Amino acid sequence: MEPRIDEIADGIYRLSVRVDAIAPPAGFTFNHFLVLGDEPLLFHTGLRRMFPLLREALGRLMPVEKLRWITFGHYEADECGAMNEWLAVAPLAEVAHGQTGCMVSLNDMADRAPRVLRDGEVIDLGRGKRVRYIDTPHIPHGWDAGVLYEEASGTLMCGDLFTQVGDGPALTGSDIVGPAIAAEDMFRFSSLHPSMGATIRRLAEISPRTLALMHGPAFAGDGAAALRGLAANYDDRVRALLAAA
Ligand SMILES: [Fe+2]
Ligand SMILES: [Fe+2]
Repeated sequence: MEPRIDEIADGIYRLSVRVDAIAPPAGFTFNHFLVLGDEPLLFHTGLRRMFPLLREALGRLMPVEKLRWITFGHYEADECGAMNEWLAVAPLAEVAHGQTGCMVSLNDMADRAPRVLRDGEVIDLGRGKRVRYIDTPHIPHGWDAGVLYEEASGTLMCGDLFTQVGDGPALTGSDIVGPAIAAEDMFRFSSLHPSMGATIRRLAEISPRTLALMHGPAFAGDGAAALRGLAANYDDRVRALLAAA
């Protein structure tokens, strides 16, 4: 379970932990992203039990106590299980999340009060890095779901969207829609919702150059096309469900 560290976009590092016991024999990755700046930001805290591993890995890139922002897509163990462990070792750090997540979970569960982000709000991390928070309620799951877009590098940290099994390269230009469809068929992890296609197509309008997947490789290429491909597949799934109802 030694984390693998790769720079997947300028100043954005992917700390990847492979777990063989999930979806064997392919295995499954949990990916955590560090955006360096004057105010370094972590997207995904990792599971609580992964904290010692990730703390050590992050410490190879920067002093852990300088971490400033702790962010994630939604309230779930792999996204934010180690939130309070990070808060404990980084005295300047704040959890930042959308209004729903703070109201429903984080105002109570975080050891320090979270910073509430409005939909579209930007945090300037310094050194040219700016991250924009985007609400994506229920997409692919969780009322409080959201994604983070780093504007300078064009990197969309898209959380559980495009989840796939296996442990491929850190960065790929290959198709990520097909593997995501296969994983959806396997896990049924998305809460199929009539707004799903439209929400994902709104992300496509940003035209990200890199998609940072929580479970899978980062993708460099036409992010808009990949997002539209995923949206179309979810539209088909929702239509099929409604037709069968
Ligand atoms: Fe999730
Ligand atoms: Fe996840």
